[in-house]
Amino acid sequence: MSKPVHRIAVLPGDGIGPEVMNEALRVLKSVSCKFEIDFDFNEQLVGGAAIDELGSPLPEVTLNACRESDAILFGSVGGPKWESLPPDQQPERGALLPLRKHFSLFANLRPSVCFPSLVHASPVRADIVKGGFNVLCVRELTGGIYFGEPKEIRNDEKGRHAVDTMRYHESEIERIAHVAFRSAMERSKKLTSIDKANVLRNGILWRETVEAVSGDYPEVSLDHLYVDNAAMQLIRRPRDFDVILAPNLFGDILSDEMAMIAGSLGMLASSSLGIDKGDGLYFGMYEPSGGSAPDIAGEGIANPCAQILSASLMLRYSLGHSEAADAIDNAVRAAIDEGIRTADIYTSEQGTQRVGTKEMGDAIVEEIRKESSN
Ligand code: IPM
Ligand code: MG
Repeated sequence: MSKPVHRIAVLPGDGIGPEVMNEALRVLKSVSCKFEIDFDFNEQLVGGAAIDELGSPLPEVTLNACRESDAILFGSVGGPKWESLPPDQQPERGALLPLRKHFSLFANLRPSVCFPSLVHASPVRADIVKGGFNVLCVRELTGGIYFGEPKEIRNDEKGRHAVDTMRYHESEIERIAHVAFRSAMERSKKLTSIDKANVLRNGILWRETVEAVSGDYPEVSLDHLYVDNAAMQLIRRPRDFDVILAPNLFGDILSDEMAMIAGSLGMLASSSLGIDKGDGLYFGMYEPSGGSAPDIAGEGIANPCAQILSASLMLRYSLGHSEAADAIDNAVRAAIDEGIRTADIYTSEQGTQRVGTKEMGDAIVEEIRKESSN
């Protein structure tokens, strides 16, 4: 049987997107040699770059490339240049949210990993993050207040008012809860579900539904936290958490908090998955958790690790190449352990070296090469 060719829609986007994507593609090419994986990269414009060239943040040609692919490798979109456009034409609302909805990418997995050798980069006190931590945030991504209708700004006798609707169907909560419980089963069997059941009806349904799903996973210990309390506990004792399950809006906020506690957004990958295709693999979109960082775009100093680790998640969840994914994860860790640092994680410790985007990519490719000769 001939080897499958993995078709990947590559959407670098705006800001630092293209620079960090370049390094991720180099890393993918290096594992493609070692593990004999065939990729067919289809690179397309998205976000502000697509607005400038083709007049739309998500042109048909880009959407088609995604439809024809096994996975989407996404950079980042947005920047000051497009902020004054009408809301629906802006890169985030016009490209990122429709892509999530179009492909029903309801499960957003955001691993927040604080490497032991990077604890100094965390703004949190050293005794709290000592030894590092690894928390997985499972965020519902296609429901809740992000997409509920009505959603508009209206006029009435008192003047303008805005309405956003938070709506969750039990089935939407159930399917994301299963993802979280399954993740917990593969890790330390500990799940914390987040809601605001003391105020929101949504919170009551969320909690009841997660409790009901927990019946299928008797080995997982489940607890619940109100989102405000969770925001405190995560910063007070991040090492006590393993998997966090949250509705769309709360997951958006808590995953940024976790990213910051871990030290740098530049290290954190994310995957947005749809329904299991039946073979344990998912169609998915993979992107760094950080944004387009327009302030440093084009300077060659951005940290490519988040984009590279996103490519590793793609190999794992959409393409079924977990060995290649492990090789990438190990290479990133080895480069960091050797003291290679981009500006965001650099603190002039002894034995460390401050490098740019490309050098960081070089170091990771080199580690993969070394692994392959072992
Ligand atoms: C994220 C981002 C997006 C979100 C924005 C850019 C729409 O913050 O992926 O976390 O809120 O989901
Ligand atoms: Mg966010």
